[in-house]
Amino acid sequence: MTSKQLFRILAAAAAGAVIVAQFFQPEIPAPPQPKPGAGYDAVVTDARVKTILRRACADCHSNDTVWPWYSHISPVSHMVANDVVRGRRQLNFSTVTSLSEDQMGEIHDVVNFGDMPPKAYTLIHPGAKLSPADAELLKQWALGELPPQN
Ligand code: HEC
Repeated sequence: MTSKQLFRILAAAAAGAVIVAQFFQPEIPAPPQPKPGAGYDAVVTDARVKTILRRACADCHSNDTVWPWYSHISPVSHMVANDVVRGRRQLNFSTVTSLSEDQMGEIHDVVNFGDMPPKAYTLIHPGAKLSPADAELLKQWALGELPPQN
């Protein structure tokens, strides 16, 4: 067998694997529906903070996930679903009714360490990156030290 033939066989096998993989899609449990009075409006009164959370966190931490076409293609679909399911479980801005001091502390820390939004995500969604000013505002909010809006 020539290396060209070998390459063709491997390419066909890879293409076949990708096609077969489409039949194995992640199961995404329906997120809990928000009770009246829950959600961003219940826990965030500052419009600036709300805008940042919606832009940078909502895909994984709310029910308002935007699912682009590639999020339906396996194996990417599994990675995205994993992020969304785990993210919502930790913190869902659509259904929260209050945020405890511990949760605010966690939000402060993930922003402070630059852990959220995850790097792999902002690579594909550059618009979700936190500017230094965004990060500062979120941290002040999480500490309960938000300066008044001017
Ligand atoms: C691409 C999806 C994604 C985005 C966008 C995202 N997160 Fe997360 N987040 C996750 C996942 C997944 C976890 C769960 C990690 C785990 O279980 O280890 C998580 C966990 C957390 C936690 C809990 C951390 C802990 O210590 O347990 C906080 C707080 C958090 N995220 C805040 C945010 C904030 C604030 C933003 C926006 C600035 C954000 N996340 C954006 C996916 C995301």
